[in-house]
Amino acid sequence: MNKQVIFGLLLACILVCISGQDEEDYQESPTVLIALLVRNKAHILPMFLSYLEQQDYPKERISIWLRCDHSNDDSIELLRQWLDNSGDLYHSVSYEFKPEEQSFVNETSPYEWPASRFKHLIALKEEAFQYGRDIWADYVFFLDADVLLTSKDSLKVLTRLQLPIVAPMLISESLYSNFWCGMTEDYYYRRTDEYKEIYHVKKQGSFPVPMVHTAVLVNMNHRAVRNLTFDRNKLVEMQKSRQQEPLYDGPADDIIVFAISANSSGIPLHICNDITFGYILQPLEPGDTLDHDVQQLVNLKSIMVNELGAVPPLLEYYKHLEKKPDKSKLSLDRIFMINLKRRPERREKMERLFDEIGLEAEHFPAVDGKELSTERLLEMGVRFLPGYEDPYHHRAMTMGEIGCFLSHYSIWVLMVRKQLKEVLILEDDIRFEPYFRQNAVRILNQARNAAQYDLIYFGRKRLKDESEPAVENADNLVHAGYSYWTLGYVISLQGALKLLAAKPLDKLIPVDEFLPLMFDRHPNKTWSEAFRKRNLVAFSASPLLLYPIYYTGESGYISDTEDSQQISVETSEEGEARLKSDREQVFDHEQEFKLHPELKLGESLSKSHQEL
Ligand SMILES: *[C@@H]1O[C@H](CO)[C@@H](O)[C@H](O)[C@H]1NC(C)=O
Ligand SMILES: *[C@@H]1O[C@H](CO)[C@@H](O)[C@H](O)[C@H]1NC(C)=O
Ligand SMILES: *[C@@H]1O[C@H](CO)[C@@H](O)[C@H](O)[C@H]1NC(C)=O
Ligand SMILES: *[C@@H]1O[C@H](CO)[C@@H](O)[C@H](O)[C@H]1NC(C)=O
Repeated sequence: MNKQVIFGLLLACILVCISGQDEEDYQESPTVLIALLVRNKAHILPMFLSYLEQQDYPKERISIWLRCDHSNDDSIELLRQWLDNSGDLYHSVSYEFKPEEQSFVNETSPYEWPASRFKHLIALKEEAFQYGRDIWADYVFFLDADVLLTSKDSLKVLTRLQLPIVAPMLISESLYSNFWCGMTEDYYYRRTDEYKEIYHVKKQGSFPVPMVHTAVLVNMNHRAVRNLTFDRNKLVEMQKSRQQEPLYDGPADDIIVFAISANSSGIPLHICNDITFGYILQPLEPGDTLDHDVQQLVNLKSIMVNELGAVPPLLEYYKHLEKKPDKSKLSLDRIFMINLKRRPERREKMERLFDEIGLEAEHFPAVDGKELSTERLLEMGVRFLPGYEDPYHHRAMTMGEIGCFLSHYSIWVLMVRKQLKEVLILEDDIRFEPYFRQNAVRILNQARNAAQYDLIYFGRKRLKDESEPAVENADNLVHAGYSYWTLGYVISLQGALKLLAAKPLDKLIPVDEFLPLMFDRHPNKTWSEAFRKRNLVAFSASPLLLYPIYYTGESGYISDTEDSQQISVETSEEGEARLKSDREQVFDHEQEFKLHPELKLGESLSKSHQEL
């Protein structure tokens, strides 16, 4: 071959390689130094490292700076395992482990923050920052091991923003997150309305805020960033040299000093909620134990199942460390989850939730309205409540609603047949509140001590703004008023007997209308009179322990009871049966009036200067 041909081929080859690629492909990703400080995080490290490792970002553009000291758990071992398996994938790793130092002098709890600890932490963060400057990293990402970056796109999205300082907004089990929207004169947390707007993604984007922490990406190519510091003395020196007033006189706290240092240098801090980056554990307080963190993880995993469909998997070599709570029946005889055979995806999701929360629940196959027919109902002897019609749409009862009633009914029958004393009945489209297990047991004990109860709503929708007296000698129970939904309720054997004694199949009405009729809080007297004995003792948990996953009108809402085919059955004695419809729309705003918004169950942690 002559030289020209070879040259021509080469040129063609290069052109082919170049065409079809957009400009970005020429650019290497910016280099990132990830600064990791670890102390006693063995319980979360497998998750933390797995999700960090699964970031969709070229590892050869990432350097790791890792320090672990003052730990008395397996943190160092787990970190070594990670470095052995994955260390070589990264551009470089700088690490230092100090297994001999297991705690700080005179420390009574690893969750204390004495000045000596702040000093140590600040020195390390300064060192990491300097290391980032020395290796000319484009970005330094300060990351705590309490952060689960479940979105693989986190690092990519954050670096593309090209902001001087930005934090990925992280979700906790409550309102806690890694940013503040307000700061007081003395540098502490101040509540603002904007905080919730950002946290609940009522507005989306990147917003300047006075504080970000725990997961903070710093753009080292921003000139003013060079002078940022975590060290109070350095900050004050810098302010003096710039003749800035007033000089910083706040605490020697790394995150506060860093935020003020940025502000003094004219650098805004941004919080970004463009995507669901991941989750965060609330810091523990000195009185807390490791169990609090373990429970927080349970809560977060249940949120992950709701939001992501499942808890993202761990790295292969950490899989054996995965911990799931033992399964409990919450001191009840049985827990049933009603699910239609043709909705296996809901069943799967619920079973994942049961696994993560630790509930021993059984699948109970629902009666499918689609398989019912007028003939079949006739055969079963079902008749409809004379004169019933949907109160809001004046529509007949749907086959789905009939199926739903029969499903609940079958469980009541089963209870009586098997003499089950207390049963929790769950539907398959629910979300568990954090600390569900503990709170459910607490509420059951309160109910048992307070009175002979028949039914306890764990989740429901209140339909009337009426008074609901508290149950005597119980902190978290009220006498239920007119309510809808049968998402989750506990029923006693005596309750099941009362419901069956009312012979509801002779005068069928949707199950969530039937229950309020039976505890005599239904506003329609005509229907009430159809049931002579209305002495069901019904309580509701307050606050509630369960919510539906989808509300009507929100994307993704599918109701099996309300969208199914409507029927007009001419078989009931008094003519046409007419039953309820998609009434949720009428009450769209109802869920906003909660009973005692200030009342919070669970071991929610108090944190002096951060949002709860
Ligand atoms: C630890 O406590 C002892 C006794 O109270 C005290 O003498 C010592 O100075 C303390 N050490 C530190 C580092 O605070
Ligand atoms: C950073 O600090 C140096 C001296 O400490 C100063 O000369 C320089 O102007 C500072 N840069 C910025 C952007 O403030
Ligand atoms: C610095 O803080 C002040 C007071 O909170 C604020 O008005 C200003 O916008 C901040 N500057 C930057 C660059 O964020
Ligand atoms: C009760 O229901 C009946 C039959 O649907 C209806 O005619 C009546 O107006 C309702 N009463 C009230 C108070 O809603």
